[in-house]
Amino acid sequence: MALRALTGIKPTGEPHVGNWLGAIKPALDLASEFDTFYFIADYHALNIVYDAEALRKHTLSIAATYLAFGLDPDKSIFYRQSEIPEVFELAWILSCFTPKGLLNRAHSYKDAVAKNLEAGRDPDQNINMGLYSYPVLMAADILVFKADIVPVGADQKQHVEIARDIAERLNHVYKTDLFTLPEPRIDDQVKTIVGLDGRKMSKSYGNTIPLFLEEKPLLKRINQIVTNSQTPDEPKDPEQSAVFALHRLLLPPAGEEALRLRYQAGGLGWGQAKKDYFEALNALLQGPRGEYRRLMADPAGLQKVLAKGRDKARARAGEFLDRVRQTIGIR
Ligand code: TRP
Repeated sequence: MALRALTGIKPTGEPHVGNWLGAIKPALDLASEFDTFYFIADYHALNIVYDAEALRKHTLSIAATYLAFGLDPDKSIFYRQSEIPEVFELAWILSCFTPKGLLNRAHSYKDAVAKNLEAGRDPDQNINMGLYSYPVLMAADILVFKADIVPVGADQKQHVEIARDIAERLNHVYKTDLFTLPEPRIDDQVKTIVGLDGRKMSKSYGNTIPLFLEEKPLLKRINQIVTNSQTPDEPKDPEQSAVFALHRLLLPPAGEEALRLRYQAGGLGWGQAKKDYFEALNALLQGPRGEYRRLMADPAGLQKVLAKGRDKARARAGEFLDRVRQTIGIR
């Protein structure tokens, strides 16, 4: 039987090239090898997005994005976290086995406390229980579907380890192997993806390349990539160039090498280098862009896809929760 891979996506904003190459693509590539579960972590997003309209919109937009990039809802199970009540019941159960100290050590909580202390504020200022318990909800996401593998970015590795700790604890207390121990899977092929200014591509830096811009705004955006003042004739150091760093991600090794040589040879101006990157990127995004537009124009259709995923997911989650309730004496 194929191993099961599960991953969640927080609907917090407009998807960009960094999300695609760093998360969406590696996650979707797993479908050929694993039994795959993908879900929209809308209740995790509630920690960040307090605008109801925006949350609704981002949720549909993430659904459309994954489908546009080839998620096959007949092969994978694709659903919204909030539609699986078993996840939240399990989160409570897990929290009764989660040492408070384990959550005290979680990076995102620790960072928030450290920031407060640095600023001379109360350590708990602006920290709510949603942030504190975030790893428990994430553990429930993972354990309820008995995931073997959880593909995540490096920043989420600790959360998967916490899920594993909690699972081990329950297995130990109830002398059972009901809970599958998940493994984080971090794609180290994927280097940090740089943005327009050469720093990590991130919404918070305002340096992203959104995925579904039309051609003209896309080219305009690419033209904003920061370059040095070298003339077209001068040989260029590919390792120092954000344009190269972005372009190479789209190329197979031989193509990357050829591009590297073109930079080093001289005669390639920045305008042309950007145009070449635009052509390569646009060729890959053209299909998904059209598909995304089509999907977003039909929200009822998207809801239908998610409802089907919900039904499949709930059947499994319900069965699992029955066993958990029996095991712990709630039934
Ligand atoms: N915390 C993850 C992130 O910020 C999203 C997430 C929620 C997730 N639940 C999950 C990822 C379960 C993997 C498995 O990216």
